[in-house]
Amino acid sequence: MAPRALRARSAPLALLTLLAACGASCSSKSTPASSSGDDAGDDGAPPPCTAEVNKGPWVVAIDETHAKLRWESCVTAPGTVTVTPEGTSTPAKATASVQTVTTTDSPGAPFSDAQDVPGTWYENEVALAGLSPATCYAYVVDRDPAAKGRFCTSRKPGDPFTFAAVGDTDPGLDDHFSKVEANVYAGAYPIDFTLHMGDIQYYSSGFEPYQAWFPLMAPLLRRGAMLPAMGNHEHEEPHEMTEMVLRFWGGSGFDGTDLYYDFQSGGVWFFTVDTELDFSATSDQLKWLVGRLDAVSQLPGYRFSVVYQHRPMWTCGDSDDHPDEQAYLAPYFKKYKVPLVLWGHMHGYERFVSDGTTYLTTAGGGGTIGDVNKSASTKAYCNGAGNLRVAAAPMFHAMVFDVGATSVHGRAIDLNGAIKDDFSVTLP
Ligand SMILES: [Fe+2]
Repeated sequence: MAPRALRARSAPLALLTLLAACGASCSSKSTPASSSGDDAGDDGAPPPCTAEVNKGPWVVAIDETHAKLRWESCVTAPGTVTVTPEGTSTPAKATASVQTVTTTDSPGAPFSDAQDVPGTWYENEVALAGLSPATCYAYVVDRDPAAKGRFCTSRKPGDPFTFAAVGDTDPGLDDHFSKVEANVYAGAYPIDFTLHMGDIQYYSSGFEPYQAWFPLMAPLLRRGAMLPAMGNHEHEEPHEMTEMVLRFWGGSGFDGTDLYYDFQSGGVWFFTVDTELDFSATSDQLKWLVGRLDAVSQLPGYRFSVVYQHRPMWTCGDSDDHPDEQAYLAPYFKKYKVPLVLWGHMHGYERFVSDGTTYLTTAGGGGTIGDVNKSASTKAYCNGAGNLRVAAAPMFHAMVFDVGATSVHGRAIDLNGAIKDDFSVTLP
């Protein structure tokens, strides 16, 4: 395999360079106003952060009338935002609630210029309510005019809409995902929100603390809400879940927990589950999912559901499949109208079709691309008469889905903007 091209610094030589050359400029943006790190207050230490917006902004938890707009600040005073429906000149202002967060850990090797350091941070959240359904809004954080973006509220049942899906975003390794973002999020596709398949960020890579991740992901985050699944890399480091993952992505949905939840748009329900948790027949998570599928499928306006998660149920590539999902969840897909299931984890692209449901892996978000055929010879669903896989490619990419009246139009778009797979999912 060719050496990875690193957007940040190559290790270990670059780490030595970093340690030798890093002065106030190296990590000033991520040094908290109140630091518990050993260097706080030492001569030559980076100056305290004074940024109104240190990470973000980003949006989660959208429905027809609500959205949560978040950012991390180094300033204690609550921030304010101006929110304006697109195409109008009727702005409204709202004030954030602030959660003071003290972090104690700096997970991963700091090979990136931007670092996450221990300290105290001010998590701003504006819980917007009373929004108009099926409406996109522009927003700006008032004390930092560069911190601006847009989001869309949920569509009315039956309305057409477009969403995106990505997985395994490791944008610090190279500019691969920035190229995907430029092609998918620059305006060509009318995306309301993005589903993330998990492995949102890779502390284990050492090149991508959240301080680096947020700016690299800004084109995606500022185009609409991002609703993430939890991957193995969200669970990988001590304190990472409590100090980072949950405060950034917790409360993204409207039922379930911080780790598995649902939301809806246009009468389409989106369910994410955490494949690092128990998924057996008697697990709380599986019982919740089946119970919610049963409940929402009886609601007025229900059309169908999409299930998305990190580990794939099937793969012919270089990761394991998920027998618990095959055994305990897949049998419900037809009963509850689940024509589309999305996965991550196997770094590449695969699409399977079985019994009216399309299953696909979209995990081309910047993590080193794997071997999409590595296990093909050993699995019946990858071969001969039992073959269920209809497309595969080892590529960086993202997905765009247009939800229509009778079908979902899916496209896999690579880092050059080329549509590498173009298909239709017939709706039940
Ligand atoms: Fe993974």
